[in-house]
Amino acid sequence: MGHRWFETVAHAQQRAKQRLPKSVYSALLAGSEAGVSYRDNTAAFQELGFAPHVADLAAERATATTVMGQEIALPVVISPTGVQAVHPEGELAVARAAAARGTAMGLSSFASKPVEEVVAANPKTFFQMYWMGSKDSMLRSMERARAAGAAGLIVTLDWSFSHGRDWGSPWIPERLDLKAMAKLAPQGLSRPGWLLDYARSGSLPDLTTPNLADENGVAPAFFGAYGQWMGTPPPSWDDVRWMRDEWQGPFLVKGISRVDDARRAVDIGATALSVSNHGGNNLDTTPAPIRLLPAVAEAVGDRIEVLLDGGVRRGSDVVKALALGARAVLIGRAYLWGLAAGGQAGVENVLDVLAGGIDSALRGLGRGSIHDLTPDDVLIPPGFTRTAPERG
Ligand SMILES: Cc1cc2nc3c(=O)[nH]c(=O)nc-3n(C[C@H](O)[C@H](O)[C@H](O)COP(=O)(O)O)c2cc1C
Repeated sequence: MGHRWFETVAHAQQRAKQRLPKSVYSALLAGSEAGVSYRDNTAAFQELGFAPHVADLAAERATATTVMGQEIALPVVISPTGVQAVHPEGELAVARAAAARGTAMGLSSFASKPVEEVVAANPKTFFQMYWMGSKDSMLRSMERARAAGAAGLIVTLDWSFSHGRDWGSPWIPERLDLKAMAKLAPQGLSRPGWLLDYARSGSLPDLTTPNLADENGVAPAFFGAYGQWMGTPPPSWDDVRWMRDEWQGPFLVKGISRVDDARRAVDIGATALSVSNHGGNNLDTTPAPIRLLPAVAEAVGDRIEVLLDGGVRRGSDVVKALALGARAVLIGRAYLWGLAAGGQAGVENVLDVLAGGIDSALRGLGRGSIHDLTPDDVLIPPGFTRTAPERG
């Protein structure tokens, strides 16, 4: 069946909701505790305004830039997300879509497709790791990603294992065996399109994490890997520096909320950082990254590439983030909804929606290039930003 174009990310979300079994859809929606951060991530973008010009506008608008040494056609990069069992092609469809639109992608170590296949589909792939397991196993993962040709490493540090949700967490099986199928059957039967896609691909949704395979090549299932991560003592900045030194190539620290942590990321020699609260899935009531971005960009923006992720749903959000100091943004749910709605074509559709929105916002602002954006391009209401006092 051909892809039906959607005109906004909200439409992609509606399609995803119609297509996916309830538990899979709510796993994508995620969020934690009361969902305050999750809601603030999008609400904060809506608090920022524009004051468009009507003449002297630029006839052409340039959107190309670089992130961690990779040339990208628009300042939007795919954020790593674990286990994209929302579609049989999962991360491969995402990688192909990103490549087709000329952008880069983060691949989660919890992903459902091997890094070798994903890099083959999009050489601009950054491999993402958590601090988990032994140093030996982390070295093995880095070595494997390097051998596969990954263009950079992302270390995601903002996870504090906060699990409760006021609206309840979905039940997710480790593997779709007969017992799990029986339990999910009512949801699957009401969403035949999703099941049919898997039936046609000849496989079943599977929560194995091939990129976390041990030295014997045995890949753990999602929850086994998660347990190992939970049991690993959290890293010090020296540990993160060790990881950066072992990797040697472009290195991104994801999950920064504070100026002092941004300075530490600079100190350890990271290439880039992402101001992020993990899409509102982690420590609830952490403010939206767009509120924290101006202080971080002001403090370290001349020494490290400052990115942002969380709540980006429109091209105008991307432009607001760039105006406030981001070099580019990462997107999570927006492309997951596109993937669920239409596979590769759905992800391309999302990137096209964002590209169109970036272009409209640049035109309205009278800017001929994303590189000309400044904080004066957005109207910032009083009390919008948040800055934590620096420690240490
Ligand atoms: C379902 C889901 C799974 C995620 N898995 C990962 C992951 O494995 N690694 C990671 O660094 N971030 C992960 N994230 C966070 C995203 O990379 C990103 O920070 C977040 O989705 C950005 O917010 P947005 O969804 O509003 O764009 C995940 C997010 C979601 C929604």
